[in-house]
Amino acid sequence: MNSVVWGAMNKLSINDVDLNGKKVFIRVDFNVPLHHGEVADVSRIKAALPTIHRAINSGAKIIVASHLGSPNGEIKEELSLSQVVGTFSSLLGKSVDFCEDCVGEKANLAVAKLNEGDVLLLENLRFHKEETDNNKEFSKKLGSLCDIYINDAFGVAHRAHASTVGIAAFVEQSACGYLIKREIECYSKFVNNPKRPMVAILGGAKVSTKIGVINSLIDKCETILIGGVMTFTFLRYMGFDTGQNRVENSMVEKAGNLMKKARDKGVALHVPIDFIVADEITDYAKTNVVTRNELGSGKISPDIGPDTITLYITALKEAKTVIWNGPMGVFEKKPFANGTNSLVNFLANSNALTVIGGGDSVTAVNKLGASDKMNYMSTGGGAFLKLTEDVELPGIAALTDSKTTRAI
Ligand code: 3PG
Repeated sequence: MNSVVWGAMNKLSINDVDLNGKKVFIRVDFNVPLHHGEVADVSRIKAALPTIHRAINSGAKIIVASHLGSPNGEIKEELSLSQVVGTFSSLLGKSVDFCEDCVGEKANLAVAKLNEGDVLLLENLRFHKEETDNNKEFSKKLGSLCDIYINDAFGVAHRAHASTVGIAAFVEQSACGYLIKREIECYSKFVNNPKRPMVAILGGAKVSTKIGVINSLIDKCETILIGGVMTFTFLRYMGFDTGQNRVENSMVEKAGNLMKKARDKGVALHVPIDFIVADEITDYAKTNVVTRNELGSGKISPDIGPDTITLYITALKEAKTVIWNGPMGVFEKKPFANGTNSLVNFLANSNALTVIGGGDSVTAVNKLGASDKMNYMSTGGGAFLKLTEDVELPGIAALTDSKTTRAI
């Protein structure tokens, strides 16, 4: 077990804390997609419910807080959590009060009215710039609302913000909730102590955001399969004409270094060998298949091609553990969904342990209704990647240490 997972496992969990009669501030990740003011995907709300139920059943007075989007310290109606309170309340099976601010007089008054078992949802934390600045005074104000702080927002645990880090210094006790506990346990079991061989599938737009992860996965995996736009930075290093496809010029050498490291360690790092090409990324785009030698044709390449799918599935057949972050192409558009969907369908029927590392990959799996066929679907994109890079998550590091050494 590495030191990051070890450290996380030795934090207090909600099970260790007496919540009876206490004011309990629960940081959740309700950064949910909205469509015409309605919650379009309830999975993040559902994921927070066990912790909130536990607090209700323990007779706590519960203050729930979250961010929604990136309002950069401005009040933006379209990012108000008032749009989420109805869905939250019906999923919880209990009426939830809403407070128009997360600190100050309004919040103090709303908290003072809480009885044991009551639940209050505060307005978007990021309407105050001090939240993302991890401002000390703002953290103190958040801390003054409660006796106990529970962090259950795994999706934002990689950010050092006032509600994920600063607040912990201003409360009696702080602990992780069930969602964070489960994320760390699953990560430890499936990724840190994997059944081998382990194959990683990595897609996404930029090599620059994935360098650390690929570097770390070369140390952990037997095979790495690359997809998405970052492919073209690797292909440029390999000397191919990448045509109209986006290359991160400043990353070409770094991509080459990753390829060299993989070769030196005997890790098979595969880059796509063919592509679906088109003039436009729409649902009606006319497409062709080209090999990677033919990319200079002037078209864009929004998906991997059939020979790459065959190559990748052949590699996946050998795997006992598969870890996946980032789609293979623009799966939201029908003509470019086949690469991603073929891999989802293969994994859904595979005997390998399957770990889906948050973000768009989770959306792609959900879209095909395959989520219950996967062993672990992380709720955190960025946070999951940081764990994979062996980087300590500040939102977990800030919590109270357990006196006894045991799994959270
Ligand atoms: C997410 O959606 O990944 C989390 O809620 C974190 O959001 P952020 O990237 O805006 O901090």
